[in-house]
This record gives sequence, structure tokens and C-alpha cells, in this order.
Amino acid sequence: MEEINWESIRSDYPVLDKCTYFNTASSGAIAKSTADAMRAFANDQLSNATLNRSAWLSEIEMTRSAVAKMVGASESEIAFTPDVSITMSLTAQALENKTRIALLRDEFPSVVLPWISHGYDVTWIERAQDQTFNLADFEKALNDGTKIVTVSWVHYNSGITTDLVTLGKMCKAHRALFIVDCTQGLGAIPLDVKACDIDILMASTFKWLTGGYGNCILYVSNEIKDQVRQKAMGWSSLTDFGQDPSIRANWKVGASSYELGHPKYSNILTFSKALQKIEAIGIAQINERINSLTTYLEDRLSSIGLSPIAPRLSRNRSGIMTVRLEKSIYDRLNCDQIIATYRENYIRLSLHFYNDFKDVDRLTEAISGYSHPN
Ligand SMILES: Cc1ncc(COP(=O)(O)O)c(C=O)c1O
Repeated sequence: MEEINWESIRSDYPVLDKCTYFNTASSGAIAKSTADAMRAFANDQLSNATLNRSAWLSEIEMTRSAVAKMVGASESEIAFTPDVSITMSLTAQALENKTRIALLRDEFPSVVLPWISHGYDVTWIERAQDQTFNLADFEKALNDGTKIVTVSWVHYNSGITTDLVTLGKMCKAHRALFIVDCTQGLGAIPLDVKACDIDILMASTFKWLTGGYGNCILYVSNEIKDQVRQKAMGWSSLTDFGQDPSIRANWKVGASSYELGHPKYSNILTFSKALQKIEAIGIAQINERINSLTTYLEDRLSSIGLSPIAPRLSRNRSGIMTVRLEKSIYDRLNCDQIIATYRENYIRLSLHFYNDFKDVDRLTEAISGYSHPN
């Protein structure tokens, strides 16, 4: 197989000329071709109004196929929604008859808030101080009558990944729905929804999928689609626009029932270009690249006395690594154009395929330079 020219790929992301970017967990860098797609859509609307709408719709369908292929689903199981927050809320609203849910402590708010606000009976699965948790606690909750488990695949702060295969099997054995937010992993780690027995998956595309804001991938397994009955509806909720809306049989079910109004053309077409780029590199190759970069980062940090807050075992790695650091050092990094996220005594570093080993050297040399100025 031909060797990947990471340097040439990196040159497609102009922000990397300006700063050392460790902030994909906040928002992915955008490629020139992705920004071109955003501009092209605006220009097309400017010059052609609706004249090219059928071409936009074909590209959306092409993108749906590409997403289905990426996660091992069928096209009818994929929809595009604006973000995770709305998608999780629609899901919590649609499943209201299922009252018992198991949620992990310290999740990103959009993963848990919709269930709390809809009055679900929550069993909280606790995390240890290093952010790890015990899958046996989910088993116990399932034995106690939990009917839904909702987790994020990669934790937005510590970067720990959930073992989806084991948890999915547990849920399946207990006939509980398994719902996963993959925003911090999809695009960086390979995933097969069927192998993980996921019933509903969602992932915003502006981070590791590098696809810009305002777009979220949704997968709803055809096997459980009848259990998800939308209460939020719009003109696109009908199986055919001309049908009588008062007849329930004319209402869509499954993934497509989340697409209530007009497609968010600009956002989906922008994402489409980014996805083509990611596919051309290959997610397995991206994952290998991230693993070697983060392994190097861990070694370099260790050489200056810093270590990740969460254990980095080969089975639970992601592109996110969080280490304890004083705010004053983070502020200096920021001034030196080394960009990351700071939270409560921790710095969150996130590395994607477009980072390189020199980025890691720049970071660790800067940190040790602040402590030992020449
Ligand atoms: C785990 C997780 N899910 C979702 C999101 C984004 O939520 P939304 O798509 O609603 O903006 C983030 C970060 O912004 C996140 O870390």
C-alpha cells in the first residue's frame, strides 16, 4: 500500500500555518476544499436560486450512502439533523414511555440533560477519580429494570472510550435500547454499528469529521424504528408530501422521521466534501496516525513530569489527552499560539491526523521552557 503523505495532507488545513492546533475536540480544522464547498453553495444560491436543487438533493443522498458505509448501516437508517442536542432531545421525547435509563456521571450535558428534563428515572453510573467506570454497574442497572442506556463513545474531557461492543451486548441481552453519542470519536476511530449492537447513534460533524457546524449524523436501527415515534413533526414527516397529514400511517418512522423540514443544504454539502477527504485517507489509517501521535505525546509529557489524568490502555484510547496543568501555563501556551482547551486545572489536548510530531515537540518544549527559562 502506498505510504500516506501526511505533510501534504496537513498543507490543506491553513489554520495549521498560523498556530499549533490541539483543539479538534472543540472544533476540527477545516480543509480548503471544505471551505470552497461552503462558498460554492453560497454562490450557487446567489446565481441560481433553486435551479440546481436536484443536484443538491443527489449529493445529499450520496453523502447518506457514504455515512451508511462508514458506520456499517443501510441508507434508510441514516438521517441528517442540526446537532446532538436537538437529536438527543427528539429521541428522549419520542421514547417517553420508557422510563428507566442508565447514564454516566460527568457526561457532556447534551447526552444527559434531555433525559433529565423529560422526567426519565435515571440510574447514575459513577466514575472513579481517573474517569474510568465499571461496566458491571451497567449490568446491575439493566438487571434492575433499566430500559435505555445512553453514553458517549469518547468522553469529551478525559478522552476515555466506552467499550461499545461489551455494553451493546449487555443491552441487547436485556432488550434495552443502546443510544450512543459518537461526536468525539467518529472520523478518528473506526466504528461498526451492527458489531456494537447500537440502536441509535448520533455525531455532530464539526469535530473529528472536520465537516463544519450545523450538521449531525443520525443512525436509527431499522430493527427498533417502530419504538421511536416522533412528537415533533413538520412537512417532511409525511411519507409523501401530498398525503393526508391526519392519517398516522402517512407519518415517517425511523431515521428519516428526524428530518422535519428542509434539508440543511449548505451544512450537509459542506460536510460531504470533508467526508470525501476523510474517506480518501481512510479512518483506519487516521486512527493509526492518531495513536502514534498520542503515544509520542504521552512519552514527551512524561519526560517533563506530566501524565494523562485517565489511564491510556490500548483498548480505550482516543485523540483526546487531558493532563493536570496550571492555568498560567495554559495562558502562556495560548499567547504562543499553542491552542487547546482549559478546564478546572486540566488542559485538554486533542490530536487529529493533521497534527504532526513537531507540534508535540513545540508543546512540550514550550512547557518545559516556561519552567526552566534560559
Ligand atoms: C460528547 C459531545 N457531544 C456533543 C457535542 C456537541 O453537541 P451539539 O452537537 O449539540 O453542539 C460535544 C461538544 O461540543 C461533545 O463533546
